Amino acid sequence: MIWWDDYMILLDEPNFKTRLSKLLRTSRIGKSIFLFNELDSTQDYAMTLPNSESLHGTIVIAKKQNMGKGRIGRTWISPEGGLWMSIIFRPNFSVDNIIFLQFIGALAVVNAIHEITKIDCKLKWPNDVLINEKKVCGILVDVNLEKENKKIVMGIGLNANIDSSLINNFLNDGNIKVTTLREECGNDIDLLFLIKSILEKLEHYYDDLLSRGKTLEIIDSWKEKSDMFGKEIIVYDGDEKFMGHVIDIDQNGALVMKLTDGSVKNIIYYSDVSIQT
Ligand code: BTN
Repeated sequence: MIWWDDYMILLDEPNFKTRLSKLLRTSRIGKSIFLFNELDSTQDYAMTLPNSESLHGTIVIAKKQNMGKGRIGRTWISPEGGLWMSIIFRPNFSVDNIIFLQFIGALAVVNAIHEITKIDCKLKWPNDVLINEKKVCGILVDVNLEKENKKIVMGIGLNANIDSSLINNFLNDGNIKVTTLREECGNDIDLLFLIKSILEKLEHYYDDLLSRGKTLEIIDSWKEKSDMFGKEIIVYDGDEKFMGHVIDIDQNGALVMKLTDGSVKNIIYYSDVSIQT
């Protein structure tokens, strides 16, 4: 496998696109590719692409992001070597299903990482991908509900061929530490094959499950990959804070918690979930 050369190929836009297109076994996802050496945010770029260029499955990739966006207004540190990618969906289902879109994004990443590195990642509700309790990937879903331009953009931020110190030193969220595939594998990963694998798995989950309303199957797959159950967690929801144990994910994708006072709470909207160790 060619590590550095394959990574460098990201600089060579026509070549990278040709190789990815040839490799991809998808019918719609990845058929239109925007690739940049540098962007403020692939997410913002994808959200503001005009209707005519926002075909279902269009992807936007940047080698580095200068203003990467994380959840709840956080900054996403995105140096060279990571996988910073946004995918445009033109959903044929209700936007109430957005939580399931987050689930399938995380599932596609977990399965792709396993295929390529044999590492077993764990999922943290709703969409963090962890290795040894450290975050390796986050998923962000943005929605545009304008009638003429209804679209959903899924952003995948995967710490691939970078050193975690580049990120950990700048984090102001004390709840979670970050890791990278380079550190977990001891070598760099071929981003071309990683992207191919993620997109193929995403299409499978989107076409075969989500578009057909098979949300219970998605929840079951998600649960299999999570070890949150039984663990003590704290959920921060604005100024409110709930403590308890995770007991389930309900049919709407909400996290079901047994609180310390014995009551059961279903969490849909939240600002942050922290697992106690
Ligand atoms: C999270 O906070 O866990 C979600 C992070 C999502 C980051 C990705 S990187 C590609 C896309 N572009 C962005 O600006 N953000 C998302």
